[in-house]
Amino acid sequence: MSKTFNRTLVTAALPYANGPVHIGHLAGCYLPADIYVRFMRSCGEEILFICGSDEHGVPITIKARNENITPKQVVDKYHEMMKESFREFGISFDHYSRTSSMLHHQTASDFFNTMYEKGEFVEETTQQYYDAEVNQFLADRYIEGTCPKCGNEKAYGDQCEKCGTSLNPMDLLSPVSKLSGSKPVLKETKNWFLPLDKYQERLLSWIQSKQDLWKPNVYGQCMSWLQQGLQPRAMTRDLDWGVKVPLPNTDGKVLYVWFDAPIGYISATKELFNGGDGWQKFWCQEDSRLLHFIGKDNIVFHCIIFPAMLMAHGNYILPENVPANEFLNLEGEKISTSRNWAVWLHQYLQDFKEKQDVLRYVLCSTMPETKDNDFTWKDFQARNNNELVAIFGNFVNRTLVLTQKFYNGMVPEAGEFSIQDKEIINAILNTKKQISTSLHAFRFREALQHLMDLARTGNKYLADNEPWKLIKTDEERVKTIMYVALEITAYLAALSEPFMPRQSSTLFAMLALQPISYKDANGQLLKAGHQTGYVALLFEKIEDDVIASQIEKLQATQIKNAVQATPIKDTIAFDDFAKMDIRVATILAAERVPKTDKLLKLILDAGADKRTVVSGIAQFYDPEKVIGQQVLLLANLEPRKIKGIESHGMILMAEDAAGQLCFASPLQTIDNGSTVK
Ligand code: 2FM
Ligand code: ZN
Repeated sequence: MSKTFNRTLVTAALPYANGPVHIGHLAGCYLPADIYVRFMRSCGEEILFICGSDEHGVPITIKARNENITPKQVVDKYHEMMKESFREFGISFDHYSRTSSMLHHQTASDFFNTMYEKGEFVEETTQQYYDAEVNQFLADRYIEGTCPKCGNEKAYGDQCEKCGTSLNPMDLLSPVSKLSGSKPVLKETKNWFLPLDKYQERLLSWIQSKQDLWKPNVYGQCMSWLQQGLQPRAMTRDLDWGVKVPLPNTDGKVLYVWFDAPIGYISATKELFNGGDGWQKFWCQEDSRLLHFIGKDNIVFHCIIFPAMLMAHGNYILPENVPANEFLNLEGEKISTSRNWAVWLHQYLQDFKEKQDVLRYVLCSTMPETKDNDFTWKDFQARNNNELVAIFGNFVNRTLVLTQKFYNGMVPEAGEFSIQDKEIINAILNTKKQISTSLHAFRFREALQHLMDLARTGNKYLADNEPWKLIKTDEERVKTIMYVALEITAYLAALSEPFMPRQSSTLFAMLALQPISYKDANGQLLKAGHQTGYVALLFEKIEDDVIASQIEKLQATQIKNAVQATPIKDTIAFDDFAKMDIRVATILAAERVPKTDKLLKLILDAGADKRTVVSGIAQFYDPEKVIGQQVLLLANLEPRKIKGIESHGMILMAEDAAGQLCFASPLQTIDNGSTVK
């Protein structure tokens, strides 16, 4: 028998505060969670939606190192940015917190202490890689080396991104510390492990009890972990950024980020209740339902490790469901933050003002519910133009325009319903049921299809009955038709709210109706004589050039990614460098070398002399434009004849990996002949 629940707590994975939010995040977790929560609220259910920034762990410290700022500066910047993007896209958290808050540190420490006092941890001294130059233990991501499986020389301590093998730092051949470039040494350190093997049986029977409830992709992944047999996992790390281990003599040790992050759901709920104990109802009572919305890379943490922690602690309920999504790709390739292969929400907002719901719609239509899916700009355009504009917007617009035209915007009194009218009324109510069934089962794409089918039904109804023609011969019948069309419109406004909240509220304003919830969307929503508001276009066509410029933007990224900086050459002695006589010189005259594409003949004032140099820069600089330019000249290079011209020295140019050249020049004007050292 299925359990009855009196309230629901929905969590969405706490995003790392080390970068902005992109469409993959939205489609994978925040959008489905938001649609679900909005729907449940609209049905009158007691539900809370909790999230916050994940501000600890190595992803943050790596970002800080790369940007040469502190971890605190990193998380402060991205916390605000992510929060703003979520707000813009209508992700309706009841509370969005952050794991750097005092309350979180306290909650995570208490959680650890309770487990510690119950003897749930195993203390173990192990050998870990240590960078003796910077006096620091090395997190897995700070060690690079050769993958033992595929030979990739740039494999990380936890994974080889080339062949996908998951690794231990000790597996790497020729490990190198990314902090100093030195060879790491092994050093003993004590950490606290959660013996997951001890929970194997309990976890197995708990997960097996979810077989019919959980999505097959989630259940399958869990079973495969369990079949491999669970191993103890360290819940503390040697790192200086995170929640300090609340035990004596543990300086330089923090809780593992995957230990503290899910506890962030608990601390955020506490924060929402402002120190009161209302949060306990959601976390500790058996009649509460806990749902974790996440992406597939987080399944093991939410279905195995966090539940084991909850079991070990003992005071909390376990998640009822973890409706994880697969990944969204972009134009056929995996979204990658480091390669900038992504559509960032803050950039989308700049390029597509007020079109948040278009993206919500498209991402819901292509949501990677059961398998990875692809976002393409062409598909985005097609769904906007052929579905939102041509079906939904068109139906609503025709209905409201005709209502204005025939009745000055007033809802007409319906006459007797024909068989088709009755079918339509049934279809409306059926749509609400279908959407509800789909959403309860976390089938978001299917739910959206049902909504769109209602708009299609409306379009067909108008096309079949042609009220714009019929008005000339049967005014009474037209009143009924328009009444039915307006009812469909009102239902579209109500039922679309979880998917496209902004558009829903605009449509209600156009109808001059107060928003109607799922709970109240029963029977007839409109009364004859009601004065509707105004008519405006709900959606607008997106033109080809707009899409082309987005595609170009991505192509530019691709070119940039394809070219990588060339490796540094072998070390040389200072004396080798000192042999070069590099001088500042000014270009006095320049002309193309006939019958060549690349060469310019330059006359230079090198201070000590005036000389001719032939330089291969004609594809990058027009001769007229370089006259007067100060450049750096390798003055003691032996003369060479190029195309019959004797060239005395070489101009120093910077060349990027794509072969683009530019002058390496002094930043301020300086005497010709000045030396460079
Ligand atoms: O994968 C991530 O982005 C993690 N920061 C998710 C954490 S979810 C939870 F445990 F907080
Ligand atoms: Zn490999």
